[in-house]
Amino acid sequence: MDSQKLLPLFPILSLFLFALLAGPRELQVSASPLFSNKFSATKKLFVFGDSYADTGNVKKSIGNSWKHPYGITFPGKPAGRFSDGRVFTDYIAKFLGLKSPMALRWERVAPHHLKEGVNFAYGGTGVFDTSIPGPNMTTQIDSFQNLINRLLFSATDLHSSIALLSVAGNDYATYADRNGSTQGYPALINAVVNQMTANLRRIHGLGVRKIAVTSLEPIGCLPMHTALFSYKQCDHIKNHLAGQHNIMLRTVVDRLNKETNSKSFVYIDLYTNFQQILNGLKAESSKFQALYKPCCIGVSREYSCGSIDENGVKKYFVCDHPEATFFWDSVHPTQEGWNAVYHQLRETNSLTDILT
Ligand SMILES: *[C@@H]1O[C@H](CO)[C@@H](O)[C@H](O)[C@H]1NC(C)=O
Ligand SMILES: *[C@@H]1O[C@H](CO)[C@@H](O)[C@H](O)[C@H]1NC(C)=O
Repeated sequence: MDSQKLLPLFPILSLFLFALLAGPRELQVSASPLFSNKFSATKKLFVFGDSYADTGNVKKSIGNSWKHPYGITFPGKPAGRFSDGRVFTDYIAKFLGLKSPMALRWERVAPHHLKEGVNFAYGGTGVFDTSIPGPNMTTQIDSFQNLINRLLFSATDLHSSIALLSVAGNDYATYADRNGSTQGYPALINAVVNQMTANLRRIHGLGVRKIAVTSLEPIGCLPMHTALFSYKQCDHIKNHLAGQHNIMLRTVVDRLNKETNSKSFVYIDLYTNFQQILNGLKAESSKFQALYKPCCIGVSREYSCGSIDENGVKKYFVCDHPEATFFWDSVHPTQEGWNAVYHQLRETNSLTDILT
């Protein structure tokens, strides 16, 4: 992959955008009676979005997330997470006192699997279609609506449940990949945030009363971009674009809360929290020997973490101590990276609105 040639502001996020993903699957839920208790609502977590939130939806035969060395820290083998271990969803579930909800996967699902909620997030996707054929966010919400239509969740359950939406930049990466020009970015940011607004409204309309949405991370600080600067500095133009998206998104969240006269919508500021850790401004930063340079790197530009060549020879380097690096691969934090972000979000009471 030659991202020089593409020269976009967001060159292909190769690890978001797996080449050959399978299309969305029809979820099969065995028809057995509802187990849920009529009298007490059970809190659940429903997750939508991309690889920052996916805990195993991308097909095994395809993504690097199912290849060594993904998952070496947790659960100890590749298990579909885009990290050495836990991802953001797992920390939000922990915060809510839930087990991480099941990824939809492709096998049959029994109602008791849905007890903690469902993770619909799919690595590589966006609010619009991206370069991979995974389910966009609309399709993910369609799957959620299908489960609701099949009465797998009661209205009271939905009312006390939480939705988490992750959009980490695949729409922008795809546009850059296809277009090569950044002229269209202002219009694109508008379109992405408008579609997000529709998605947020729709989930609210389905009865969920807490809907948290992540900001874009500082995209210019992802190793895929800092690699050009020997992992020493961020690309400020890309960060600026992420900032523009975030300003609009935050405005939308405020507006939706006003419209619904509620605190249903919560903006999770990943941008500031990534940035502060990466800038060494926080106690959390000192845990890391490497802030910008990822633990797992392809041996050359054609290869990424987890790649092997046709002879099965591995084409990546992996560090000895993933717990001492913030980034795992060229776009995703390590488990310890997510843990640091989570700790900081808690410390600044940024998650309390999810509970109130
Ligand atoms: C999402 O994907 C579906 C199915 O491929 C497509 O029909 C729809 O237009 C997409 N929605 C958006 C907002 O891109
Ligand atoms: C690329 O960007 C230009 C300028 O904004 C726009 O006119 C064109 O439609 C875009 N092409 C694609 C394929 O998105």
